[in-house]
Amino acid sequence: MSLLREQRDALHERATAGNEKAVDRQHELGKRTARERLGLLLDPGSFTEIELYRRNHASGFRIGENRPHTDGVVAGSGTIDGRRVFVYAQDFTIFGGSLGAAHAAKIHKVMDLALSTGSPIIGINDSGGARIQEGVLALDGYGGIFRRHVAASGIIPQINVVLGPCAGGAAYSPALADFTFMVRDTAKLYLTGPDVVEAVTGEQVGHDELGGADVHGKRSGVATFVHDDEESCLDDVRYLVSMLPANNLDLPPRGRPRDARHDVRPRLAEIVPAEPNKPYDMRSVITELVDDGEFLELHESWAANIVCAFARIDGEVVGLVGNQPLVLAGVLDIEAAQKAARFVRFCDAFGIPLVTLVDVPGFLPGTDQEYAGVIRHGAKLLYAYCEATVPRIQVIVRKAYGGAYIVMDSRSIGTDLSLAWPTNEIAVMGAEGAVNVLFRKELAGSADPAALRTTLMDEYLGELVHPYYAAERGLVDDVIDPARTRSAVASGLAMLKDKRQQPARRKHGNLPL
Ligand code: HXC
Repeated sequence: MSLLREQRDALHERATAGNEKAVDRQHELGKRTARERLGLLLDPGSFTEIELYRRNHASGFRIGENRPHTDGVVAGSGTIDGRRVFVYAQDFTIFGGSLGAAHAAKIHKVMDLALSTGSPIIGINDSGGARIQEGVLALDGYGGIFRRHVAASGIIPQINVVLGPCAGGAAYSPALADFTFMVRDTAKLYLTGPDVVEAVTGEQVGHDELGGADVHGKRSGVATFVHDDEESCLDDVRYLVSMLPANNLDLPPRGRPRDARHDVRPRLAEIVPAEPNKPYDMRSVITELVDDGEFLELHESWAANIVCAFARIDGEVVGLVGNQPLVLAGVLDIEAAQKAARFVRFCDAFGIPLVTLVDVPGFLPGTDQEYAGVIRHGAKLLYAYCEATVPRIQVIVRKAYGGAYIVMDSRSIGTDLSLAWPTNEIAVMGAEGAVNVLFRKELAGSADPAALRTTLMDEYLGELVHPYYAAERGLVDDVIDPARTRSAVASGLAMLKDKRQQPARRKHGNLPL
């Protein structure tokens, strides 16, 4: 009887977060407790907890007798839309969610189970970092997490949701995961906090300015998704999971087929202006191409000159990469290349077909880009496409010039199907630049240079730049009516559905980092 009572007390203790004051403080800060968060994330009643009774056995540096169950992290498994996921949620109300040996062992265990069962792993971070009282054991615990992230990379989807502080070593989990979510005002993600920054560099900076959600959503690119509150954030985690396969051997969950192969979308020709330099929003093109006009955009505010999104076409999940003429005229630059390269690699690792929408004037010129290594970073995107073995469809929407044409999944680097609109411009460079390079002397000596320039430009455009030049030479498979783009892409995806291509056998390539 007393054993049963003991068990009831222990169950009550573990079901309750840290002391009432800590829970109140958590709520006052606009944060939920670990269990409340898992309640929002998982299907109701689906959570199975592991290591309910685990507690720390540390004795150092006045840690005292306070050894609450869970050791500050709630871990286990549940379902999202009926599909299995493994989860852990750090509990800030216990030791500030800090990570000691027992806490780390629980995270290691769910990561191991996620990998061995082929299920996504979702970690919710809200922690003061390495538990100071446990010294090197805490650091050892972090190392074990990072090693597991790397071992699981490309095998199961990994998601980190930062809903509080995530400082020091903890920051590397969101960096190693495939997708990182952050919530404004409460999430803080940095290697060294404001106090250390000031002590070392003299710079005074606040928590938000140093590592808030917008910093990582707009500037560093660490956060893939930024939200205003925990509810919408966890809801979007569910939406993301609904697009992803459970593992690299599984298929992405299929939606309802839509007969997209017969769909005609006249609005597409209206969205994209005929003038090559007039801006428009590539997301409006995506809306017309995908089922229900619904897509999930990654890194919405970082490197916005390229759009990366998941969506479904005729029920099949695809990864869309598109130049964005609305921002920097859609040029490729360092950040755009990094963003798209990581997305292409994720899609390739998880069998998600790629649809690349091209409208690119070239790479961004200038010393800023060259000094910062645009060659090295641009090569990442090139490398990612060259390596990708999933079905690949390139749609040239308006223009594709120079190296950027090659990089945006051209035939030469392995696209399976290249489609072009009749008004396309595809060439080494624009007409004016080409005429200036080739006919400088003639133009200087001409009695009417403007007329000569116009004649030469017309000749260049008529002979070389239109899509039939590429199509006649096998570099474009079909020149299509813009209104039939959705149907052509859907047909292409159906044609390529059973594509199997083995990557070369080697330890690993040497991706330009
Ligand atoms: C042990 C910790 C802790 C930690 C917080 N707490 N961080 N306990 N180890 N790392 C405890 C506090 O003592 C406090 O306990 C409770 O958690 C809540 O913390 P507060 O400071 O009261 O909360 P708040 O004011 O909201 O500040 C949150 C915070 C701050 C910004 C995260 O706690 C903080 O700066 N913590 C230290 C962050 C840090 O530098 N961590 C080490 C990173 S180095 P009581 O009992 O009072 O409630 C690292 C190395 C790993 O992680 C490297 C691997 C590569």
